[in-house]
Amino acid sequence: MSGNVEVLLETKDLEVTYGRIEAVKGISISVAAGEIVAVLGANGAGKSSLLKAIYGLVAPRGGEVRLVGRPLPPRLAHMRVANGLALVPEGRQILVSLSVDENLRLGAYRRKDAASLEHDLEAIYARFSNLNQRRHMSASTLSGGEQQMLAIGRALMAKPSLLMLDEPSLGLSPRLVGELFELLRQLNEEGLSILLVEQNTHKALQIAHRAYVIELGRCVAEGTPRQLHEEGKIEEAYLGQNGAG
Ligand SMILES: Nc1ncnc2c1ncn2[C@@H]1O[C@H](COP(=O)(O)OP(=O)(O)O)[C@@H](O)[C@H]1O
Ligand SMILES: [Mg+2]
Repeated sequence: MSGNVEVLLETKDLEVTYGRIEAVKGISISVAAGEIVAVLGANGAGKSSLLKAIYGLVAPRGGEVRLVGRPLPPRLAHMRVANGLALVPEGRQILVSLSVDENLRLGAYRRKDAASLEHDLEAIYARFSNLNQRRHMSASTLSGGEQQMLAIGRALMAKPSLLMLDEPSLGLSPRLVGELFELLRQLNEEGLSILLVEQNTHKALQIAHRAYVIELGRCVAEGTPRQLHEEGKIEEAYLGQNGAG
């Protein structure tokens, strides 16, 4: 990235522990305004723990999270939302007992601007025609791909400046993964900054401007997709991911 780009989000030496398990052992990452940044790594690397600490769902044991230069207090996820962060959690976590429309409105629970809220809701229905057709149906009737779109739509209803996604491609068919990544690329072109956690290294590096590779709670490589490929870091990460098998 060039000189004067605004840093939106930064972690400094962030540590997350669960009892004696050290899931995140001092990770420093940043996302500048307008970037798609990928966090790559095998199962158990600490990716979700990193996102949860950024979003305030777990209190870090050490280090800090800064948003536009200001430290964020630990926990207090609602403050993250108010400050422009949105998270699409692992496994989507939409509410299957509610309708599509109710799920989308939940994403806007902190907004008081009723008129522009309705406008944004219609914009989301215009973008996701499958959701539009099922507005008043239970979210349980959606396919896996539609549920992922609903989870993203719900996050967008908060009008975030930074969208964080935890393994959004998990469980989707190759075609839907392609559509998902095309959507993320479009949202980014429209101005949204994105922090994308993925095990699908190949697809993530097709849209990311920069990436970090995480192994056992530490960052072992970072750079542009081209740098990571040229330095052989991605092949190494793949070997780690696939183990001996
Ligand atoms: N709630 C928890 N309690 C105890 N250990 C956990 C918890 N969540 C994650 N871990 C452990 O922390 C490590 C990192 O997990 P996680 O952040 O989920 O990694 P990833 O998302 O990269 O798969 C793993 O060893 C995992 O077993
Ligand atoms: Mg995870």
